[in-house]
Amino acid sequence: MNRLLSSAVSGLLTLTIMATFAGQSFAQNRTSGNNNAPAAGTPSGSQLGNYRNERADGWIPLEPEKRQAINTDLQATVVELIELFHDAKQSHWNLRGPLYFPLHENLQEYAETYLKYSDLLAERQLQIGQPADGRTETVVNTANLPKFPGGFLSDRQVLDIMTERIYTVAKRVRARIESTGKNGDEVTSNKLQDLSYELDKQVWQFRVHMQ
Ligand SMILES: [Fe+2]
Repeated sequence: MNRLLSSAVSGLLTLTIMATFAGQSFAQNRTSGNNNAPAAGTPSGSQLGNYRNERADGWIPLEPEKRQAINTDLQATVVELIELFHDAKQSHWNLRGPLYFPLHENLQEYAETYLKYSDLLAERQLQIGQPADGRTETVVNTANLPKFPGGFLSDRQVLDIMTERIYTVAKRVRARIESTGKNGDEVTSNKLQDLSYELDKQVWQFRVHMQ
């Protein structure tokens, strides 16, 4: 009986020691990466574990030579939409005048559209293997729209300024529908068409106040 108990205890001890070593070795693997880790300076999600698979680099839907041109069009649109988002919110808050209520509502809706499409197009950049850059510094330096006025804004002023800005971006997006199509990415071109419809609608809804 005693011998049986002692053998069971010793078996349990051995199992516990083995599990402890296995746990330590797993933890070491997770922290030290693995032999297939990418070269230094190329941060990768796979560094968090042993997930690295060279074939994953081939699972990008667009041929490498096409990616840069498509990414340029996507990145330009993303920063313009982030800028328009800030412009719409700035106008939504500081608006004054008899058209306050309908414009206040419109501007909120437009801001949500800009956010939705900036996210969708930024994620398209990642789908084609490129990083997205939505930093405030990048938006200021590359959105290529005039500086937006601070302080209170009259309803008439907002109609003028916002219609012109939305129209400018809508025109650029239309050109990018063509260039992304020509450069061989119908999917991005198609998403830009959807955005183009929204921007044209916004221009129309503001333009009619002034006609
Ligand atoms: Fe609000």
